[in-house]
Amino acid sequence: MIAIIGGSGFSKSGLNQNMERIEVPTEYGKVDVFTVEIENKQLYFLPRHGLGHSYPPHLIPYKANIQALKNLGIERIFATSAVGSLNENLEPGRIVIPDQFIDFTKNRDHSFSKVGKVYHLDFTEPFCSEMAESVLKASSMIGLNVKSGATYVVTEGPRFETPAEINAYRILGGDLVGMTLVPECVLARELGMCYLTISIVTNLAAGIKGERLTAVEVEEMMKVKQDEVLNLIYKAITLLPEKRKCHCSSAFEGAEI
Ligand code: HPA
Repeated sequence: MIAIIGGSGFSKSGLNQNMERIEVPTEYGKVDVFTVEIENKQLYFLPRHGLGHSYPPHLIPYKANIQALKNLGIERIFATSAVGSLNENLEPGRIVIPDQFIDFTKNRDHSFSKVGKVYHLDFTEPFCSEMAESVLKASSMIGLNVKSGATYVVTEGPRFETPAEINAYRILGGDLVGMTLVPECVLARELGMCYLTISIVTNLAAGIKGERLTAVEVEEMMKVKQDEVLNLIYKAITLLPEKRKCHCSSAFEGAEI
């Protein structure tokens, strides 16, 4: 069972006109999820920012979203994310699969752990290696240039960064900057689901070209890239092994105290 979490500019109608809406109750609130059968596979779509893009990045109900996918029986999540680039080699329009992140979020409900349930999950490999492999294979089969291996710096938002912050993130080794990867990928792992983010570079980060950044340019680039990224995901899905052998499904081995 596979879900796509769509970031800014990714719409359900761009995915398929005939998606059925389901309201999934969770202990963290109700979540709207859409579903459709594509090539004999039931696919689920969750718009990260809610219907009509109502949640800003720091107020997204991350726990409800991830719990809803878990309740539906989802095992693998392909997420899409708009990002700014700190790296001259990753120009706007480029599709990137990050392999690391640095978390600068400040004020988010970021874990399902609670008093009496203490665990420390391994994040040496933050994203699913099997999913990354399938996306890379798919990209070469369809002739799409996808860069693998990059460090995604996660900021709290909703404002864009200052040039001084971007400079600091570069010094720390960041390649991309965005506002939504954490806690989404962490919560997915806490519930034993595989997670891979496919980042779309929408702009050069603040101060790199000295121009103002706008949310409109971010959304427009995402709309332009939606079909390309969806084709990539659809192809990748056909290449995934039926049974998961990655670390994600056994993330809790040795993690609990
Ligand atoms: N910064 C943070 N988040 C983003 C950016 C950016 O430059 N572009 C798209 N999402």
